[in-house]
Amino acid sequence: MMLNKNNILLETKNITKTFGGIHAIEDVNLHINKGEINALIGPNGAGKTTLFNCITGFYPPTKGRIIFNGEDITGLKPHQIAETGMARTFQNIRLFAEMTVMENILIGSQCRYRMTLLGAILNDKRTKNEEREISRKALQYLRFTGLSKFANHLARNLSYGDQRRLELARALATEPKLLLLDEPAAGMNLNETKGLMELIKKIKDEEITILLIEHDMRMVMKIADTITVLDHGIKIAEGTPKEVQKNEKVIEAYIGRRRRTA
Ligand SMILES: Nc1ncnc2c1ncn2[C@@H]1O[C@H](COP(=O)(O)OP(=O)(O)OP(=O)(O)O)[C@@H](O)[C@H]1O
Ligand SMILES: [Mg+2]
Repeated sequence: MMLNKNNILLETKNITKTFGGIHAIEDVNLHINKGEINALIGPNGAGKTTLFNCITGFYPPTKGRIIFNGEDITGLKPHQIAETGMARTFQNIRLFAEMTVMENILIGSQCRYRMTLLGAILNDKRTKNEEREISRKALQYLRFTGLSKFANHLARNLSYGDQRRLELARALATEPKLLLLDEPAAGMNLNETKGLMELIKKIKDEEITILLIEHDMRMVMKIADTITVLDHGIKIAEGTPKEVQKNEKVIEAYIGRRRRTA
């Protein structure tokens, strides 16, 4: 894998997270190049979501540092990290089910704008302009993700695949440099997965860097530029899809695990 110091957007240095003595991840060094689709794979319980939670500030790491866009962001709170240009989706869909699709997106845009409560009460010109701008942007992300026709539908009435898209749209509305997706294709049918792959490629074309946790190997092999493999909390491989596919440790981690759980 080509590593170019100037091209690294995110770097973790010896990130470790323990839960009551159990090492969920241990000394993980991750390098994410700007503009690439990076996949994070590994068997169940390998520590993928824990690594996401550390990177995005949901868990303070037990040890190690996180450098994003040249800045040390270790220990920042999730909303502070979001402000630096990171957005994520969750393994289990987290939407406001009783709000409309549009409202779900507007919540995503909030951290980008300075709209104050006082401004909203006074309904001043700046606030009005900002509101207009926010709505315009929200519509733009709905179009981008193919959800415009559902703008006024309640989130809970969307199909499963569209709910996943809405989560993505909401993350995009914060205009991130890095987008972290935790198993976005989980539970999707073949058609929905294909559509999602197209959407992820379109996001890459917008020069947004992507870190993708995914179990669907066909999808990963097709769209990832680089792959990092975790097993039992440890990074066991990294490289291009071709390199990772023939890595002995990776094959053993997957096949060995399947034998044990069979
Ligand atoms: N909040 C927590 N408290 C205690 N243990 C945790 C917590 N979160 C994760 N773990 C443990 O850390 C390990 C890694 O879990 P994690 O959810 O990160 O794995 P994963 O690779 O995302 O798995 P999956 O593919 O099933 O989503 C597991 O042993 C898990 O039980
Ligand atoms: Mg997980």
